[in-house]
Amino acid sequence: MKDHPAPHDIDGNAVTPGLPMAMLAEITHRCPLACPYCSNPVELTRAQAELPAEDWARVFGEAAGLGVLQVHISGGEPGARRDLAQIVASARAAGLYVNLITSGIGITRDRLEELDRAGVDHVQLSLQGIRADMADRISGHPGSWDKKMCFADWVAEIGFPLTINAVVHRQNLDRLPDMIALAERLGARRIEVATVQFHGWAELNRPALMPTREQAAVARQVVNAARIRLRGRMVIDYVPADHHAVYPKACMGGWGSTGLNVGPDGTVLPCHAAQSIPWMRFDNVRDRSLSEIWHRSDAFNAFRGTAWMAEPCRSCERKTVDFGGCRCQAMALAGDARATDPVCSKSPLHGQVVARAEADAAADAQAFTYRRMTKGG
Ligand code: SF4
Ligand code: FES
Repeated sequence: MKDHPAPHDIDGNAVTPGLPMAMLAEITHRCPLACPYCSNPVELTRAQAELPAEDWARVFGEAAGLGVLQVHISGGEPGARRDLAQIVASARAAGLYVNLITSGIGITRDRLEELDRAGVDHVQLSLQGIRADMADRISGHPGSWDKKMCFADWVAEIGFPLTINAVVHRQNLDRLPDMIALAERLGARRIEVATVQFHGWAELNRPALMPTREQAAVARQVVNAARIRLRGRMVIDYVPADHHAVYPKACMGGWGSTGLNVGPDGTVLPCHAAQSIPWMRFDNVRDRSLSEIWHRSDAFNAFRGTAWMAEPCRSCERKTVDFGGCRCQAMALAGDARATDPVCSKSPLHGQVVARAEADAAADAQAFTYRRMTKGG
């Protein structure tokens, strides 16, 4: 495969990519939940195509050699893989800090203890709501709330550090103060409050999920007040609702700069939604080393540096602050992954995007299109 030319800035100077600190290992797309905000691709990878544990062991070794310090083992639901403990043990053996990102469904107490012995350092548990009816409806899984609360107790008893992961949207954002209080009660050291990003399945559910401008404004105040109240006890990471913001987020901290994702079949992606860019080609760990992919591949070099940028980003003073926003959002909203992220107020499409977001937020839609793996998954 021919490699991408080395990245440059707008003055023609070569840009040397930094090294990744974190790797997201999406070891399976199988999941007992059916969350409508899932950012997994609508075409999910089937079990038969998943990378075997031996390959993951090699990939973790390559990642550590590349400079990766921590691996987030995720999915789908990583517990859907019977060889999860083996995968965890190989990550630990490679010297990586192991964060297990889970729904808490399908992992028994015995199995959690096995994962502790295998080397899980930290657990990140997703919550969809603050009560059984709400959590079960949003996750599309009756009984999920009870199982999650039970799982959270085991996490505390075994002594794992805990992060709560809460994806917020129009149908749960008003309960954000309760969500933060719940994370406190569960003994979490950190809560990630991430406003839904409209990739994958979430894009199908925009009218049911888009927060209102008022909700976004209140959420910011809630987060700011809670950060002050909880200083020294619990950290709050917050991904705001960028459709109602002035500038876009610096997605992934800049394309190909600090992290990489490896999908269930071994495809290596610069971000979780990169496969929504139709012209982009992706390498696979079955064919090339992680180091070659990171340093030389088309996909990783496509949006490094600033030479690729068009106006208004090209002459904007924020181009090394937000890197032109999210490439996948530019693809989805502008039909061009090289365009300025249309949620930016400087984008010519901004007015149109805001009007659509306002229309979606005002929609009466409540019903979800749940994430489902079709037959054979
Ligand atoms: Fe960021 Fe581009 Fe908007 Fe400037 S024009 S703020 S670089 S997205
Ligand atoms: Fe792909 Fe933002 S999700 S760059």
